[in-house]
Amino acid sequence: AANGGSDYSPLIIAHRGASAVEPEHTFLSYDQAIDDEADYIEIDLRRTADGELVAMHDETVDRTTDGKGLVEELTLKKVKALDAGEGQTVPTMEEILKRYGSEVHYYIETREDDKGKLVMEKQLLQLLKQYAIPQDQVILQSFSKDSINALHELDPELTLVQLLKKKDVEQLDREDLQAIKDIAIGVGIYAGILEESVVDLIQNHKLEIHAYYRGDEKEWTEKMLQYEVDGIFSDDPAFLANKMEIK
Ligand code: G3P
Ligand code: CA
Repeated sequence: AANGGSDYSPLIIAHRGASAVEPEHTFLSYDQAIDDEADYIEIDLRRTADGELVAMHDETVDRTTDGKGLVEELTLKKVKALDAGEGQTVPTMEEILKRYGSEVHYYIETREDDKGKLVMEKQLLQLLKQYAIPQDQVILQSFSKDSINALHELDPELTLVQLLKKKDVEQLDREDLQAIKDIAIGVGIYAGILEESVVDLIQNHKLEIHAYYRGDEKEWTEKMLQYEVDGIFSDDPAFLANKMEIK
């Protein structure tokens, strides 16, 4: 248990915005998350052919827009011409920072490009600096250890979370946890593979654990609250807040 006792209250991280309520990664979904008093807005980043950072989860635009193709092979102009749902466009990272400034907390995921290259770390930090977002309002996360290391090298003061895949979690030992702890505040793990023993192991190492779902939030929320994970990526922050109240 993270905090213990009845004052337990996990961070509510709006996963792709309130993505169960509004189209993911649109201003509608971020606005909804803010209305629902999420602590953080989660943003997945991809880079366009002409080097702009846009909020998009998949490597292609196919699932979430009316277009087709790899984000990396589309220009910003092409991406901005797409409908991301309810007439919304795909926001750029810069548009997001312009709109919300330091009014919200950001939980941003970096990725390697399709060839495994690090292409967005410097650019992202530059944008956060340009829009004067206080460092304590930003958490950066990645499945890529190289990306997390690169971010730490660019600025050792950043708040970082290492996302872990099932394989990493199964093999997780004290040495791995120590290496993570050297640069990150915690780890992000899929709720469906979390056992209480893993939660305890991680929290005993004074690392936070943030649980994410794969469209199966309703199935796992109670278990995550029972385990007292430190943060929850929620597709519906109002649902999570309600569950927290009745727990
Ligand atoms: O960033 C936490 C969670 O979002 C990781 O999974 O695939 O939804 O980005 P994914
Ligand atoms: Ca993500």
